[in-house]
Amino acid sequence: MSEFDIIWHRYNLKQNPYFTEPLTIEGSIVPIETLVGRDKEKEDITTNISLGGGTRFLVIGEAGVGKTSLVNFVRARARKNLFFSPINEIKVQDDWTPTLLVIDVLQNIYSETKSHGIKIQNNNLLKTLEDLFELSRIVEADDINPEAVLSISLSQATRLYEDLVREIINAGGYKAIIIHFNNLDNLDEAENYDKLFNNLRDFFQNKHSIFIFVGSEFIYNIINYRPKVRQIFVNVPIEIGKLSINEMKMLIKKRISYMRIGNRDYIEPHSEEALKLLYTLYDGNARDILNSLSTSVQHLKDRNTPTFIEEVKLKEILFNVANEMLLKKISPNEQKVLNEIIRLKKTTNSELANTLQKQRQHISSYLSKLLDIRAVKVDFIEGTKKYYSPTAEALWLKFKVTEKEIKERRTKELNKIEQVQQSLKKYLG
Ligand SMILES: Nc1ncnc2c1ncn2[C@@H]1O[C@H](COP(=O)(O)OP(=O)(O)O)[C@@H](O)[C@H]1O
Ligand SMILES: [Mg+2]
Repeated sequence: MSEFDIIWHRYNLKQNPYFTEPLTIEGSIVPIETLVGRDKEKEDITTNISLGGGTRFLVIGEAGVGKTSLVNFVRARARKNLFFSPINEIKVQDDWTPTLLVIDVLQNIYSETKSHGIKIQNNNLLKTLEDLFELSRIVEADDINPEAVLSISLSQATRLYEDLVREIINAGGYKAIIIHFNNLDNLDEAENYDKLFNNLRDFFQNKHSIFIFVGSEFIYNIINYRPKVRQIFVNVPIEIGKLSINEMKMLIKKRISYMRIGNRDYIEPHSEEALKLLYTLYDGNARDILNSLSTSVQHLKDRNTPTFIEEVKLKEILFNVANEMLLKKISPNEQKVLNEIIRLKKTTNSELANTLQKQRQHISSYLSKLLDIRAVKVDFIEGTKKYYSPTAEALWLKFKVTEKEIKERRTKELNKIEQVQQSLKKYLG
């Protein structure tokens, strides 16, 4: 337990209930069963999986809505029903070549066989895999092109995959192998999709394997325009939308009930209004909401009593953090551009040049600064058009507390003071 956890002890919580990491199969801070809602999506993914080997599909949605956690949840259940699936999702690498992708998959399922106590009968296969992984560990430590050193062709790697899969299925009587590729949008350039998928058609055809690809909603656009790539995905994509406000409340309640210390009463650090405010700001995005709550509690003064985060407090803290982190680092012109991006939500260089009456090359230099300090992100690319939007942190700048709100809070405090004084008078005479 780190020093940092002390903050949460004041609330009678073991640790930060607003963590933003996905839920994992083996359970991280809280068990995977704490996943809330998603009944329909769980069913859709389960139905696809139950089709067995040869199934390949996309799970898409905005970053932070809960895709990875959901797919992990369904995989955890499938693993209890004779599906073989590596504990960890496989993160898509932007520098993958087709062969390196296959080797990463091989490595993942091979280490999973060990934890299941599955013995590979074919000694030659076993020896080859051991040697290959040893070599790739050496190569990874050095800063050299792994593809060149590994000197294994794509068709050889694919053969190894087929043989290993056959061994696993036979040894454990599994229905199929589930491979979960996470963050497919890491392949930012459209050509990368061609490069990988066009070359991996044979690999993906494996009749014992189910491939699940998780990524942002925009990858679907890229894939849709590339018929050869599209053909890889035999099932319709499953779209993951936002959680409802009640599900969001439930999500936090469940976490807190796991994190409370002993049987003591816990204190929920935030007010319902604060949560609602964030829910609206982020249109229900779970990760952005949790990250904002986490940030606000961490910026409270370290008192001996737990401080409650109500609406105005939340705004004050988050605005100040964004002010320090972003506004103080930029010029008035860059601020203007940032404000305009926040107002427009999603925009391009030429639109900004238009609405701000400035030259495009000036906007470009402001944009590169804003990207640099992470006030702005490239949301997606459509042909040659880049769409920019504010980062989750930049949206805290919308929380500038008004004079009226400060006055209202002061009035509330004054009323409370009066009440306390009356109670004291009554008690002490
Ligand atoms: N249905 C859910 N139940 C419980 N926690 C969730 C749920 N959806 C998302 N979360 C939480 O929200 C955060 C973001 O989820 P994650 O799965 O990482 O999103 P994505 O993969 O879409 O970016 C994580 O901390 C995760 O634990
Ligand atoms: Mg994810």
